[in-house]
Amino acid sequence: MHIAVTGSSGLIGSEAVEHFDRQGHRVTGIDNNMRHVFFGPAGDTSWNLARLKGVTRNFRPLDLDIRERERIFDLFRGERFELVLHCAAQPSHDKAREIPLLDFEVNALGTLNLLEATRQFCAETPFVFLSTNKVYGEAPNELPLVERETRYDYARVEDYEGIDENCRIDRTMHSLFGASKAAADLVAQEYGRYFGMNVGIFRGGCLTGPNHSGVELHGFLSYLVKVALTGQTYTIFGYKGKQVRDNIHSHDVICAVEEFARNPRAGEVYNIGGGRQNSISILEAVARIEEMTGAKIRCEYHEQPRIGDHICYISNLGKLREHFPNWGITRSLDQILKEIVETEMAQRQTAARA
Ligand SMILES: NC(=O)c1ccc[n+]([C@@H]2O[C@H](COP(=O)([O-])OP(=O)(O)OC[C@H]3O[C@@H](n4cnc5c(N)ncnc54)[C@H](O)[C@@H]3O)[C@@H](O)[C@H]2O)c1
Repeated sequence: MHIAVTGSSGLIGSEAVEHFDRQGHRVTGIDNNMRHVFFGPAGDTSWNLARLKGVTRNFRPLDLDIRERERIFDLFRGERFELVLHCAAQPSHDKAREIPLLDFEVNALGTLNLLEATRQFCAETPFVFLSTNKVYGEAPNELPLVERETRYDYARVEDYEGIDENCRIDRTMHSLFGASKAAADLVAQEYGRYFGMNVGIFRGGCLTGPNHSGVELHGFLSYLVKVALTGQTYTIFGYKGKQVRDNIHSHDVICAVEEFARNPRAGEVYNIGGGRQNSISILEAVARIEEMTGAKIRCEYHEQPRIGDHICYISNLGKLREHFPNWGITRSLDQILKEIVETEMAQRQTAARA
């Protein structure tokens, strides 16, 4: 197959590039290292691009901006992509407030450009869009919760498995990021429902893995490990550090994408995350990473929570599992953390030797 991956130097995109290249597919990557523009040098993804060039056989990276409609159309006109995986984004909740126009142009307009290019030049091709649980805004916070020693949890038995796709997406505060992603999410659904295209929308919880250029504003576990190993201070924003995230390894995300590409459905929405088994609160994550690294993490506490933050978010994976019975979580939280710690340590050793 010839596969187009946007955001190919990022966490999810790079996992896709390696995965599909390993299987012998041709992969065209689209990434202009805009993560550097959003987050500065710590967000730079060029190390990951260099790494990909070294480990792949059939990968063609293009320095292309998804906002450049004509260049995107030219690319799609000239190629015949058989799968489009759209991972390029301004991915941070908090960053969007400083750059609302850029955030919307990349997240909403960029997505529309890719959907329209696919419709015009390869309308039968499965298209997967990486959306986010932030499209639900604060609606998940309306569920009754109980406070436990180290985390919040759902109070009702019926909520135990977490948030499913029926959660409403409007009449709630999202943050501008949540709104630009919700716009893209809706337009992607429309290309499925209205035009009958094979568009799948994956609403991610915390997507993670060793190839994240983790920064304070995006990449929770990756950033926390960095803080532990560098002796910086980690700031906890509100909810006593008991807010819960569910974490999924980028490999398991790509396996779900692959399942969808095999049996696509038009305009279907799926929640995807680590589920209850891979859920952890900030307090618990700090303790676990301290245990694994032997380092003491200095934490600072700010009473004010982040705007639109989830108090307890666990992705209900029921629909994904039902539609794709071959899919499941293969990496536990401890395996994920171990891999992030090992990668970060190795990178630090390499940097120290250089
Ligand atoms: N990582 C998470 O926790 C998480 C959670 C929920 C949803 N998501 C979504 O998953 C997708 C992938 O996230 P990620 O963690 O891999 O992000 P990432 O920031 O690691 O990767 C995104 C990549 O897109 C590139 N990019 C940004 N703007 C671009 C543009 N205009 N043109 C071309 N390339 C551009 C960046 O340089 C970066 O390499 C995003 O859509 C994100 O919103 C991520």
